[in-house]
Amino acid sequence: MSEKKSGGGLAGVTAGETAICTVGKEGAGLTYRGYDITDLADQGSFEEVAYLLHYGKLPTAAELDGYRSRLRGLRGLPEELKALLETIPAGTHPMDVMRTGCSYLGNLEPEGDFSNQLNVADRLVAVFPSILLYWHRFHTDGKRIDVETADDSVAGHFLHLLHDRPPSESHRSALDTSLILYAEHEFNASTFTARVITATLSDFHSAITGAIGALRGPLHGGANEAAMELIEKFSDPESAASGVRGMLERKEKIMGFGHRVYTTSDPRNAYNKRMSKKLSEETGDTWMYAVSEAIEKVMWDEKRLFANADFFSASTYHFMGIPTYLFTPIFVCSRVTGWSAHIMEQRANNRLIRPGADYTGPSLQEWVALGERA
Ligand code: COA
Repeated sequence: MSEKKSGGGLAGVTAGETAICTVGKEGAGLTYRGYDITDLADQGSFEEVAYLLHYGKLPTAAELDGYRSRLRGLRGLPEELKALLETIPAGTHPMDVMRTGCSYLGNLEPEGDFSNQLNVADRLVAVFPSILLYWHRFHTDGKRIDVETADDSVAGHFLHLLHDRPPSESHRSALDTSLILYAEHEFNASTFTARVITATLSDFHSAITGAIGALRGPLHGGANEAAMELIEKFSDPESAASGVRGMLERKEKIMGFGHRVYTTSDPRNAYNKRMSKKLSEETGDTWMYAVSEAIEKVMWDEKRLFANADFFSASTYHFMGIPTYLFTPIFVCSRVTGWSAHIMEQRANNRLIRPGADYTGPSLQEWVALGERA
């Protein structure tokens, strides 16, 4: 860690080096391995981004073809994992299903030697939608679905399993863009968790399982679900504006706003907002996009707080017919690529991560025998 003392929550502290991502850096903005997020989102696909993060370079056309079919071939679930997913109660939060699914896969397909790490990384990208949606469909439709679709994208595979039919190109491409935007974000809480676990020389599945646990909370990935719950409390922009003003007066946090690193805007928001507007028009929505915009305006006017990646992704997902409780697991399906890149980077130049702490407890106390304690 740098010498600078933490102002709480390690804000402003540099906790290591990375060649994977810049977040809000002067003159660079958000980049993955030197590529600007706008180029990746405008012209790339999630599979190209996954390849870039895992293998360190953009794939050639032939490599991308090969990579798509490799991922397609890694979607299957072992019978033991299916059986386990069937026993996880229907009311479980799907992030807990992801966590358990990942951990159990680590039992069935242990990483073994670290030389196997790229295989584990690709397997997890391919298999997370299968884990989530096998469990979801089993408990909502009572069906044991075939998770091995012919879709050549993770986004298409996800939506196909969810809705039991191949998605429209509009929905597939919106989810693809969302997966690109969520893929990587430097030393955020879940990625740092993965690096801390990795630094003990633990295995890949343990690091990803821990990262899922960190992502689950509403101050991190869980914010997209919390944002949706907030939006759905209002039916028109006026009540949304006054409702959110009231929440701010009561010092409540509005999920989907603010950021530890960005100070004036989140570069991912423009994409999410545009996609939300487009899908709102396509679905004939009459209030949700307007309510979202009204909340965004109040947050800026009252607090100079801007929508982060989680706010407009909520309505975007909603317009695709995705249930709210699957929002944060989608984040997992994407961010697993960033986590994996960081696990591999940490291993390549590892040192145990073990910071110090300023002690604030009592001074040295005298031992009192058990019978003499008050
Ligand atoms: N709603 C209302 N107020 C907010 C806010 C929000 N979403 N985000 C920050 N603030 C306010 C805080 O109340 C605090 O005000 P104060 O100084 O008057 O006490 C100030 O802004 C600083 O916030 P703080 O929580 O200390 O900043 P942080 O850097 O520790 O936290 C986040 C960053 C992202 C955790 C924080 O902005 C937040 O909780 N946002 C909502 C959750 C979210 O969307 N998370 C996803 C992030 S991508």
